Amino acid sequence: MAKKSASKAKAPTREEVQKKLKARDGVGKRALITGITGQDGSYLAEFLISKGYEVHGIVRRSSSFNTGRIDHIYLDPHVKGGKLKLHYGDLCDSNVLGKLMRTVHPQEVYNLGAQSHVRVSFDMPVFTADIVAMGALKLLEAIREYQTETGKQVRYYQASSSEQYGKVLEVPQKETTPFYPRSPYACAKVMAHWATVNYRESYNMHASCGILFNHESPRRGETFVTRKITRAVGRIKMGLQDKVFLGNLDSKRDWGFAGDYVKMMWMMLQQDEADDYVVATGRTITVRKFAEMAFEHAGLNFKKYVEFDPRYLRPAEVDLLLGDPAKAKKKLGWVPETSVEELAAMMVEHDLELARREKTLRDAGHKLPDSSGHDQ
Ligand SMILES: NC(=O)c1ccc[n+]([C@@H]2O[C@H](COP(=O)([O-])OP(=O)(O)OC[C@H]3O[C@@H](n4cnc5c(N)ncnc54)[C@H](OP(=O)(O)O)[C@@H]3O)[C@@H](O)[C@H]2O)c1
Repeated sequence: MAKKSASKAKAPTREEVQKKLKARDGVGKRALITGITGQDGSYLAEFLISKGYEVHGIVRRSSSFNTGRIDHIYLDPHVKGGKLKLHYGDLCDSNVLGKLMRTVHPQEVYNLGAQSHVRVSFDMPVFTADIVAMGALKLLEAIREYQTETGKQVRYYQASSSEQYGKVLEVPQKETTPFYPRSPYACAKVMAHWATVNYRESYNMHASCGILFNHESPRRGETFVTRKITRAVGRIKMGLQDKVFLGNLDSKRDWGFAGDYVKMMWMMLQQDEADDYVVATGRTITVRKFAEMAFEHAGLNFKKYVEFDPRYLRPAEVDLLLGDPAKAKKKLGWVPETSVEELAAMMVEHDLELARREKTLRDAGHKLPDSSGHDQ
């Protein structure tokens, strides 16, 4: 008993943890990011570069440009001093993953790559599982082999998801809440999550899962519901679109800002011990409420413009996601800095500006693509 309280007394204070994090800044470090062209990958790359890291990202070969979210931090390889290096690769190709480990020599690996759209995962379950579940396993294996060959330790971050809680068994959801996945995406994420825990326990790897609740930003893909709403607000306000079709307006989500959440990914990898953390705001609102806030921000009444379309319903729904970020706050001192109101306003402002540009083009006689029929 006495021993227990003595070890308790030694637990670092939040100030001590913060000081340590500062001291571990990233000058001289290399990070490898899968999914760098996505929303989170772009914010994480910016954040790590600002800390002095050399950032390496895996980019899929595509017939059209897919680096729009990171173009602003990419320097042509002929220019000296670039901190972002891109490599072709894919989570389904274990050869490339192994080769990149041996050539990049990263100290930290962030696995953000995924077919990340829940509704789409019902249409493409096998592909989703290949990338999300098997991709994570292939990457973990590449890291394990690299560690065995070189004797170097690599820290690994797995992008777990609140979708893993699915038909929730507890409200709010915390690290100890059992998973009940309700989509091919969530099933695959559960597999990747447990593979990460298993590699930590089996091979003593520094591997951590961040169980992130929904997080959005002006860089969110336009087929995700928040962005679909804010894009519609901008376009309706500018007279470019009449209405927006949505699925289940009663789904409740715990929404935060992606820029706040990537910080937590990094913080997790700076700890001496790998561990799993829920990353959330601790507040949940319905899709309806988000839409109402977004339309109101532009001076519009959402009831006039939002229509229901059952095509956007999922075969199995996840009704109430609400995360408890107490562990992240207590152990790492992490707190989300952006409220959902600020988030909605930020996204609407961004999309009003985009729509303004579209309108300018249209008024000048250019043809615009119709962006009103996206999936939710
Ligand atoms: N945003 C959220 O609310 C949330 C919540 C919990 C967990 N997560 C997870 O966190 C991660 C980042 O989320 P996000 O919102 O940034 O997702 P996102 O914007 O959809 O980005 C996904 C990234 O994965 C890449 N990717 C797709 N298939 C790949 C493959 N076969 N091999 C390598 N890369 C591949 C995409 O490349 P392209 O650009 O070429 O398509 C993109 O860079 C994902 O794993 C997601 O499932 C997200």
